[in-house]
Amino acid sequence: MGESQLWHEVDDYLTGRLLSDVPDDALAAALRDSDAAGLPPIAVSPLQGKLLQLLAQVQGARHILEIGTLGGYSTIWLGRALPADGRLISLERDPGHAEVAVRNIARAGLDRQVEVRVGAALDSLPELADENPPPFDLVFIDADKANNPRYVEWALRLTSTGSLIVLDNVVRGGRVADPDNTDPDVLGTRAALDLIGSHPRLSGTALQTVGAKDYDGFALARVLA
Ligand code: SAH
Ligand code: DHB
Ligand code: MG
Repeated sequence: MGESQLWHEVDDYLTGRLLSDVPDDALAAALRDSDAAGLPPIAVSPLQGKLLQLLAQVQGARHILEIGTLGGYSTIWLGRALPADGRLISLERDPGHAEVAVRNIARAGLDRQVEVRVGAALDSLPELADENPPPFDLVFIDADKANNPRYVEWALRLTSTGSLIVLDNVVRGGRVADPDNTDPDVLGTRAALDLIGSHPRLSGTALQTVGAKDYDGFALARVLA
C-alpha cells in the first residue's frame, strides 16, 4: 500500500471514530453541490474542519474572518462554532464560488450569521477595515497563497490581543522547504511564515499534516499585546 493510500485510510478511520455524531447533512450537501457546480475539491477535510471548529470554540470566537470561501465548507464548520449573536465574514474572489457558498451556508441555517463578500480579498480588506468592525477572534487564511504575507498583515490590523490566525496549506507536499521552488504561492507562504516567525506581535508555530489532503500543513499564530 502506498503511503498516501494509508493516510487516506487512517483519515477515514479517524473520521468514522470521531465525527460519527456530527450532523453532516449540510456539510455533505455542501460538498456535493460544490462538486456538481465544478468547484475544485480542495476544501479542508472533515477532520480539519472539526479542528477549525474546535479552535474557534477554544477562542470563544464571536467574530470570525475567513479569506477564501470556495463552496463554504470550512465556513460552515467555523460558523457552527459561533454563538447566536456571533458573526463570520468570508471573502471570495470568484462570484460563482460565492454563489454556491451562499446556498450551502443558507442550507446549514447560518445565513443570519455568515456574510460572503465577493471580490479580491485585497480590495475587500481595506473596505472592511474602514467599517471599523470589532476585532476578529479568529482569522482563517485560505485563498491565493502568493498574497499570504499581505493577508497576515491585514489579519494583524483586524484582530486584537489573544486572537488566532490560521494559515492553510503551508507545506504543500514539502514544496515550502525546497530551495529550488520559486513558485509565487510557495514564496508567499514562505514570506508569511517569516513574518509570523519574526513579528513582535505574533507567536506562531506550524504543523505538518497527512490525510485526505495528502501532505500539507497549517500555521497557527496568536496575536500578542
Ligand atoms: N476555505 C475553503 C477553501 C478555499 S479554496 C474550504 O476549506 O472549504 C481557495 C478559495 O480562494 C477559492 O474559492 C478561490 O476562488 C479563492 N480566492 C483565490 N484568490 C482570491 C483572492 N485574491 N481573494 C479572495 N478569494 C480568492
Ligand atoms: C489546494 C488545497 C487547498 O487547501 C487550497 O486552499 C488550495 C489548493 C490543492 O490541493 O491544490
Ligand atoms: Mg486550503
